[in-house]
Amino acid sequence: MKDFKNRDILSGKDFERDEIDYILEIGKKMGNNEYPKILDGKILATLFFEPSTRTRLSFESAMLRLGGKVVGFQSRDVSSIKKGETIADTIRTVQNYSDIIVMRHSLEGVDRMAAKFSTVPVINAGSGPSEHPTQGLLDLLTIKEECGTIDGLNIGLCGDLKYGRTVHSLSYLLCNYEVNLYFISPDSLKMRARVVDWLRKKQLKFKETEKFRDILPLLDVLYMTRIQAERFVDKEEYEKVKGVYIFRKKDLTETRDNFRLMHPLPRIDEISTSVDDSKKAIYFKQAKYGMYLRMALLGLVLKGNDFMRNL
Ligand code: NCD
Repeated sequence: MKDFKNRDILSGKDFERDEIDYILEIGKKMGNNEYPKILDGKILATLFFEPSTRTRLSFESAMLRLGGKVVGFQSRDVSSIKKGETIADTIRTVQNYSDIIVMRHSLEGVDRMAAKFSTVPVINAGSGPSEHPTQGLLDLLTIKEECGTIDGLNIGLCGDLKYGRTVHSLSYLLCNYEVNLYFISPDSLKMRARVVDWLRKKQLKFKETEKFRDILPLLDVLYMTRIQAERFVDKEEYEKVKGVYIFRKKDLTETRDNFRLMHPLPRIDEISTSVDDSKKAIYFKQAKYGMYLRMALLGLVLKGNDFMRNL
């Protein structure tokens, strides 16, 4: 396995199976252990040009729990980008102040450009509608820990498969496992051609459908997503699909005993709050796994693959 030390984390396509399994193993250990203070003296820069709650705070919390420190900004409006500075110049500056950069931007490709200019590793925390690889990894950690396995599962991804970046990264990562995927979306929000092409190349089995209720009894995992209002150029198109899927409490009666309901959050109205108390609803646990997963990634990228040995 290649060493993670100093690697950029940009796409779900960049991982081999053994690498993902290793990240998940360390993520699990992070949840079990007293947090090792291995990042003492290291600084994480969080550059968020788009809103975030879980991703930014879990990265920051992960860094602090491992003994590191954090600098950064939460909005374009408080950085010099607002004055007209380029991303390249921003990165050339921030790399002097930090050992690793976590970045979210509304434009696809900015993460790659940042990685090109940066002398320190860059982690993509959301690149427009394109990808969100650390979310995909935390989704896998959640599935592994809550279902006991990833291989052999029937997994439904439901909602905005066109603009939702989490489902793109998750699909790429799932190509490393033996799963049956079900893509559930309105016709106008179908899974992007480039993701579908990649899955075909990797021979991952998937089916497309418009209704989750038809296949609900088959599923081990249903991953609901928010319709990405901010990505629609035509607001009338958004009005046509908003609220298209709502998972209600009575839907639980149609599900298997081992069924698990996930969501990257934020939830708008895709899952009724009356579902939250069910043991099958694991979206808040999922957010917690996010912190463990990001602890694992920060440790691996800053310290290398052996950082947990002797701990
Ligand atoms: C997601 C995102 O930003 O892509 N949120 C997250 O990071 N958990 C999902 C979303 O915004 O719908």
